[in-house]
Amino acid sequence: MDQEQVDLLTRTGPGTPMGNLMRRYWVPALLCSEIPEPDCPPVRVRILGEKLLAFRDTQGRVGLVDEFCAHRGASLFLGRNEDCGIRCSYHGWKYDIHGNCVELPSAPQIAPKVKIKSYPCIERGDVVWAYMGPTDKQPDPPELEWCMLKPEQRFVSKRLQECGYLQAMEGGIDTTHASWVHRYELDTDPMHKHAYANKYIKADPNTIFDIEETPHGLTIFGRRNGEPDSYYWRITQWIAPWFTLIPPFGPHALGGHIWVPIDDENCWAWSINFLPDRPLPADELQAMKDGKGIHVKYIPGTFRAAANPENDWLIDRLAQKEKRSFSGVEGFSIQDASLQESMGPLQDYSREFLVPTDMAIVRARRVLERAARDLQKGIEPPALNAVSQRVRAASVLLDRKVAAKEWAPTSLVDSLNRPVFTV
Ligand code: FES
Ligand SMILES: [Fe+2]
Repeated sequence: MDQEQVDLLTRTGPGTPMGNLMRRYWVPALLCSEIPEPDCPPVRVRILGEKLLAFRDTQGRVGLVDEFCAHRGASLFLGRNEDCGIRCSYHGWKYDIHGNCVELPSAPQIAPKVKIKSYPCIERGDVVWAYMGPTDKQPDPPELEWCMLKPEQRFVSKRLQECGYLQAMEGGIDTTHASWVHRYELDTDPMHKHAYANKYIKADPNTIFDIEETPHGLTIFGRRNGEPDSYYWRITQWIAPWFTLIPPFGPHALGGHIWVPIDDENCWAWSINFLPDRPLPADELQAMKDGKGIHVKYIPGTFRAAANPENDWLIDRLAQKEKRSFSGVEGFSIQDASLQESMGPLQDYSREFLVPTDMAIVRARRVLERAARDLQKGIEPPALNAVSQRVRAASVLLDRKVAAKEWAPTSLVDSLNRPVFTV
């Protein structure tokens, strides 16, 4: 990519082309559980280069407003969440969830003229979503499958990833790496072990890709050798602009991620597991809470992983040598994060050397670049129709004569009404 493309794809602050594109979607902002009850402490939220404050008011409604007071710029994080508003602790100005100044004690007559930035929010799938785009363009709420299930059928976590969203998200699109960095933990991790397909993943790392552009983004077909009469397909969904759905592993919960820019050099990596037809089994749910599978162990009280760039992701050279872990880093998410963070906060794209197995990430870049440029010309973005988001990933053996590209459009859409395809 040349520098202009890199800038276009990786800069997401207010007014940038990619920032404008991303602001046309509902943006995952925080976990509902971060503001668990009315009048609880407010939470700082950093997304798309903006410094915001989330709070739940006395009526339980969520507000997402500018972090800083309109008076002299004190942080409302220090404020009092009381009587349906957040009150600045400095001189007592108070704002409601819409950013209206509802009390200005020293000059009440001025209050109606004072407003701070605020964004509409909805709660769905254990996530507070914010809409940060033009008022008249607000899309329908997201309908990703995991959002539509009962709470007991899903587990959602988020972690800080210390690099740009693009290089992080590209790990979610690139199915080839499962044969390498995750190789030795496929058989031991509680959310991956005993999947029949692990043997195909390990036996054949030379994935052959085919990619289909769809109304939601991309369907990415990764073909490996299966049985003598079949191919093993890992079918990944990328839903514009930042969702990925992971091909499942045997009977375990399905998984997905969201990659949301905090600023241009950090992102939130959201990880979701879900079962479409039943509650998560207690032992798997506990393993997720303990940081197994695609979730992580944290530095207590934060969303920063215990294994992070400052401690070389706790790499264990003995585990690497003894083939307990391919890279020596523990856990699927930190294995991915370590390699992506090791590229630096923003990968030097001028030095990359792409090969055919990188075709999927190239296509995703193209879709995003085109969507951002199109929006500048007034052409509407893809995947705004919530129904188009109801797709599913698959891990499936198909007869060698079956074309996966023809099989997928009827088998992996309208996900709530379809069986799960997983081996
Ligand atoms: S700075 Fe907030 S009320 Fe004065
Ligand atoms: Fe991975």
